[in-house]
Amino acid sequence: MPEVIIVPDQETAGNLVAGAILDLLGRKSDAVLGLATGSTPLPAYRTLASRAAADGLDLSRVRGFALDEYVGLPEGHPQSYKSVIRTEVTVPLNLTPSLVHVPSGDPETIQTAGDDFEQAITDAGGIDLQLLGIGTVGHIGFNEPGSSLSSLTRVKTLTMQTRRDNARFFGSLDEVPTQAITQGLGTILRSRHLVLMAFGEGKAGAIAGAVEGPVSAALPASVIQLHQRATVIVDEDAASRLAHTEYYRYAWANKPSWQSI
Ligand code: F6R
Repeated sequence: MPEVIIVPDQETAGNLVAGAILDLLGRKSDAVLGLATGSTPLPAYRTLASRAAADGLDLSRVRGFALDEYVGLPEGHPQSYKSVIRTEVTVPLNLTPSLVHVPSGDPETIQTAGDDFEQAITDAGGIDLQLLGIGTVGHIGFNEPGSSLSSLTRVKTLTMQTRRDNARFFGSLDEVPTQAITQGLGTILRSRHLVLMAFGEGKAGAIAGAVEGPVSAALPASVIQLHQRATVIVDEDAASRLAHTEYYRYAWANKPSWQSI
């Protein structure tokens, strides 16, 4: 069962997550971070960047692996996750660009890109902390409903719902690619700590299914229930369809101070 932390707003979530990452980096300055894109992790990245700058931290040894990438966007497209990771993560955190990996969505090499990405994660010694958002369909990464619970990095066809959800980043629905390459659910399960954030009522159903529903490929994020260390951080709206909020609040309020998230 994941730990569920209900917070008043995204800033509080961002602070908690930035704190957990800074704790990790204090123990391991070349830690390996799994990097989500989309709107959800932005407060965490921004807080991390400002706290690192305020403390004069050198993050040049940190390694990063993005969760996913669209297939077929031209090099340099502003909505490619390669561009987004550079703008939102690598540059503001002063990471070393060559240590930040994004799976390649180049159609020319797509057939081997999944295996190459898995090998790069293995060579780095695995991911220490994997940030996750959740789609309204219940995906993590771009593991759409029906994804194998043991899948590794590979190409998935996006559901129409996911393409509609992500059309806000593009000019129109037609511009949203049909396919993406994504870490698999099995890849995500290999990370040592999962931190999933969700904000807003639109995520409430997916969160209830992921945390309290049956573990099922029909709701891929439910696979986090199989992980030994999964932390779910949600605002009140995203928590609104959870059944056991009283317990989650009680457990968080009574958490021993020596335990980090
Ligand atoms: C992004 C990713 C997706 C998003 C999810 C939520 O790298 O893997 O699973 O986390 O679609 O997107 P936002 O945060 O934009 O609501």
